[in-house]
Amino acid sequence: MSYSPRIFVPSNRALSFVCASVFSLFLLCGITAAQQTPAAAIRDAEVNQRVESLLQQMTLDEKIGQLTQVGPWTPGPNGEKWDELIRKGEAGSILWTADSTEIQKLQQIAVTQSRLKIPLLVGFDVIHGYKNAFPVPLAMASSWDPALVEQAQAIAAREASVSGVNWTFGPMVDIARDPRWGRIVEGAGEDPYLGAAMARAQVLGFQGPALGTPHHVLASVKHFAGYGAAEGGRDYDASYIPEVLFRNVYLPPFAAAVDAGVGTVMSAYMDLNDVPASGNRWLLRDVLRRDLGFRGFVISDASAVGSLAAHGFARDPEDAAYRGLIAGTNMDMASDTYLKNAARLVDEGKLPVAVIDQLVREVLAVKIRMGLFENPYGDPANKDKVLNDPAHRAATRVAAQRSMVLLRNENHLLPLSKSLASIALIGPVADSSEEIKGGWTVDESKAVSVLEGLRNKLPNAKINFVRGGDMQRAYPMPWDAQAGKKATPMMPEAELKREVEKAVSAAQRAAAVVMVLGERASMSGEAASVSSLALKGNQQQLLEAVVATGKPVVLVLLNGRPLEINWAADHVPAILEAWLPGTEGGDAIADILFGDANPGGKLPVSWPRATGQAPTYYNHNLTQSHEDDPHFTSRYADQPSSPLYPFGYGLSYTAFAFSNLQLDRKSIRPDQILQLSVDVENTGKVAGDEVVQLYIHQRAGSASRPVRQLKGFERVALAAGEKKTVHFSLGKDELKFWSPEAKDWVVEPEAFDVWAGGDSQAPLHAEFSVTP
Ligand code: NOJ
Repeated sequence: MSYSPRIFVPSNRALSFVCASVFSLFLLCGITAAQQTPAAAIRDAEVNQRVESLLQQMTLDEKIGQLTQVGPWTPGPNGEKWDELIRKGEAGSILWTADSTEIQKLQQIAVTQSRLKIPLLVGFDVIHGYKNAFPVPLAMASSWDPALVEQAQAIAAREASVSGVNWTFGPMVDIARDPRWGRIVEGAGEDPYLGAAMARAQVLGFQGPALGTPHHVLASVKHFAGYGAAEGGRDYDASYIPEVLFRNVYLPPFAAAVDAGVGTVMSAYMDLNDVPASGNRWLLRDVLRRDLGFRGFVISDASAVGSLAAHGFARDPEDAAYRGLIAGTNMDMASDTYLKNAARLVDEGKLPVAVIDQLVREVLAVKIRMGLFENPYGDPANKDKVLNDPAHRAATRVAAQRSMVLLRNENHLLPLSKSLASIALIGPVADSSEEIKGGWTVDESKAVSVLEGLRNKLPNAKINFVRGGDMQRAYPMPWDAQAGKKATPMMPEAELKREVEKAVSAAQRAAAVVMVLGERASMSGEAASVSSLALKGNQQQLLEAVVATGKPVVLVLLNGRPLEINWAADHVPAILEAWLPGTEGGDAIADILFGDANPGGKLPVSWPRATGQAPTYYNHNLTQSHEDDPHFTSRYADQPSSPLYPFGYGLSYTAFAFSNLQLDRKSIRPDQILQLSVDVENTGKVAGDEVVQLYIHQRAGSASRPVRQLKGFERVALAAGEKKTVHFSLGKDELKFWSPEAKDWVVEPEAFDVWAGGDSQAPLHAEFSVTP
């Protein structure tokens, strides 16, 4: 049975809501229309014919050039600069140049001065925006709004492509069940179904409906595969994933990206079950090409082919090149391992040239399908206009509003009144226009800090900003350390003490307090794993001192992962998870705090109570239990094993009620589709969005099944008092799982539970069965 999960296709309703929002009106609908423009659909026969004709003319060195991407530290084997290599046809791609004049110059060399005039792939990590930063991917996933995510990446692609960048290294779709892992911020969280929806949306946003769609870029889904399971949440560390988990949990987002037509896949750094991903033939050939049906090409993560030797897998760089090529890693990222070793392997008869030829074919086919030979350049004449399009910036604000999650709001403290005369704004990065953008930002454009956002919103109020303390990484980024940089030291103790005193005094004098705590941008992302989720620096102490003043405190979290906030969850009346919300972050936060936008985001992760709970996820299996005592399922003796906030959770300024869960029949055969509907009503006084979620549970089978699994969702907008009926369907794509017994995908004739509601603990329940 081949694997093809049913993917959430943004409904017209979801799209029309996005289009109707004030800021996005003409921008997003305009981009959507552009996406519908049929791409240059080149037929397979034509692609093959062009590929073969080029291949016949290529020397071995030129072939290896197409398998090589040069990065900042990779001159050629003889110290050649990029332009020399490109002129000789020995570089198929360049990485990490955002200077569009330089890009234009190098591309010109490739297409006018190299013998075969093969254009360059110009790679850059366009992760959550190019000039205009959207919220970080974990935040975008919190919107539960694939249409919004698709539009955001379409804007990012537009800005990148006009600048000459034609290849991005996204989406990152690694399932992350362990918040210690810093890269959790770059993905869509813990769930394969939500992850698949976000993967598909991002591929469509970056690439459009097909490779070659104007104003779009080539995408690279990463990191194939299982990187999120790195042991202990330590970045780059080995992953050990049983096949049952690998197929059911880690692969679905990749499968969705492949189904959406992703042109390239990035192989991961780490060992997967002892075989490094970039030299893993089973992974890259059997799983990716045979099982998932991938037709593009594979690029390694940066220097990952050379690192096959560092893993203790390959004997030396030559062996590393051999193993990378044999495994099916077409291109070696930012490295010269292929350039220096592949020709010798062929010349000495160790590697058949047919292996190289096939890898080159796959690279050339992507370049042809992209229309790169016809349109290799950016659009310098329009660059400034596109990058400074106010509609792009406005779209980042809408996205930020839609991605924030309201975790707590006792006695309706939020929204705050706009007639507040004074506010104390407290937090180490509350005035920063850098930290709020998040990592992987590619431009110096200024973001709106929380301080500026509050001032813009309340120009007449007295806003008293106090830093209150500090937080810093204990160790610098490894590449900073290599460059001789040291970690930024924490503020000295005496100064920290003074800052806390100033914060307390500001709080005492204010009508309300907004505290901004969490993480710096550099505390999540690559090489930013942590052993503790506790608030860093003096933030916990600062929070407790300010709350002790008795003033109403709103806590805004800026962070890239769930943190330990148990004390706050008991003592701070209002908590807003703003993540790292991007260029318009400060304004979007103010929109939410003062009620100009109603939060509707939901957690894409289970929020742990303590670091020691990791890995924590809602779709776990049942444990041994006494039939008459449902509570006999203890996992920890020192605290509840449940999360602080469940997956799918998030509050609103209004309230919603669910009712009338209807199934069109009580049982289906495996080839039939069950239709379900549920009513959702806005029972409060203001308009708001609810994310209607559908979960299932298979009661018995050839393997233990998770207590719940998300199998449908839709974000709906409801006016006060409005009620809507939301429809779902369940068929084999939702009911199947990879069975360790059958070693295949199965739909089993068993009894099922189904729940619908606003989070993964939704109580509204029904049941059905699958009959043989
Ligand atoms: C290493 C990271 O793991 C990967 O995600 C990124 O795309 C490449 N470097 C290129 O920057």
